[in-house]
Amino acid sequence: MNDMNPHTAGSACENTAGQRKIYLDQAATSCPKAPGVADAVYRYLSGSAVNVNRGTYGDAYSLEEQILDTREQLLKLFHFTSGRGRNVIFTSGVTASLNMLLKGILRPGDHVLVSSMEHNAVMRPLIQLTHTGVTFDRIPCSSDGTLLLHEAENLLRPETRLLVCLHASNVCGTVMPVQEIGDFCRKHNLIFILDAAQTAGVLPLDMERLHIDALAFTGHKGLRGPQGTGGFLIRDELAAQTEPLLSGGTGSISHTEEVPDFLPDRFEPGTPNIPGILGLHAALSHLAQTPPGEIFRREMELTDYFLKGIRKLDPEENFIRLAGKKTTDGRCAVVSLQTVGVDMAQAAWELDSRYGIMTRVGLHCAPAAHKTLGTYPEGTIRFSFGPENTVEEADAALGALAEITGISSRKEI
Ligand code: ALA
Repeated sequence: MNDMNPHTAGSACENTAGQRKIYLDQAATSCPKAPGVADAVYRYLSGSAVNVNRGTYGDAYSLEEQILDTREQLLKLFHFTSGRGRNVIFTSGVTASLNMLLKGILRPGDHVLVSSMEHNAVMRPLIQLTHTGVTFDRIPCSSDGTLLLHEAENLLRPETRLLVCLHASNVCGTVMPVQEIGDFCRKHNLIFILDAAQTAGVLPLDMERLHIDALAFTGHKGLRGPQGTGGFLIRDELAAQTEPLLSGGTGSISHTEEVPDFLPDRFEPGTPNIPGILGLHAALSHLAQTPPGEIFRREMELTDYFLKGIRKLDPEENFIRLAGKKTTDGRCAVVSLQTVGVDMAQAAWELDSRYGIMTRVGLHCAPAAHKTLGTYPEGTIRFSFGPENTVEEADAALGALAEITGISSRKEI
């Protein structure tokens, strides 16, 4: 088992061919998963893989208890002290959650505020909703992704009903001022929906203090659980205004064909992803043993090392241009850069094929963010770090970048 020390552990990511590689694409999904996750999924699938909320036998009841415990761990993680287990809705992840929330809440005529850094998980449902008469405005951000919240006042209209934004950019890691956003929403009586895709499990989140009405999270990134898990936490008052996007059997009030009016059943038709939720339960149990702030501290230590390494390699940015913030201030462990004069798809391919380093290149499903950062349409190469990545891995990435961009050969001249 890895000891999670960033100086010694290593991301231990082996591909299907058994090759040990350096995994720096943690913003796409975490690797390796938290200790205990794979075992929990395997134990369920290879043992009593029964359904939940349907059978009148002991195994179904004990499964229900574990699922309820997962909901309670999530309430605790996000400090949703006024919520109950029923206020945690499981979905396949942030994308499903945001679709269910936005399409369930918004009505023709409603106006929405978003940041100019949003991922398509927010923007595509919103664009679809504009075809039904919903409108939106983007609160501008500066060229490093910092939200210019004071400009939001000018965008308010009588019909503005909701503000939705991400907590941290999946492109460059810039963190949004969530307390100020929450206060702004409270002051103007707006529904506040937070997309915590990049931060759940890494940055502290307090739904009460931040005045968050619904929080969408994914289980497979910072929480280090299985893909296909996640959900949203929602206040009762907002749930009452939210039309379910999906409906079907819930194992409850089966005498009627009406959709249940109680949570979580109202938003959880069909058999849930039970193996995934049990894996998430193991991930949350592991996280609960880690001192608060420790994962963020480790990730930022490595991010700082990597950012300083880039600046040392190329202080004038003649070969490598950083997108977003240049230091660790106000960001998470996601670093985007452009290779000057070297096609970035080629550079990313070389990182993998010559050096075994996995990154993500392109627009990262966030064209709006790239437009804000000035990296559209060419995009960036993104390096993202997790708690088990090491200094040696960051060094390998820095060395590879120096060779691919020609910095090392220029220095030898
Ligand atoms: N949204 C994820 C990413 O940024 C998948 O890579």
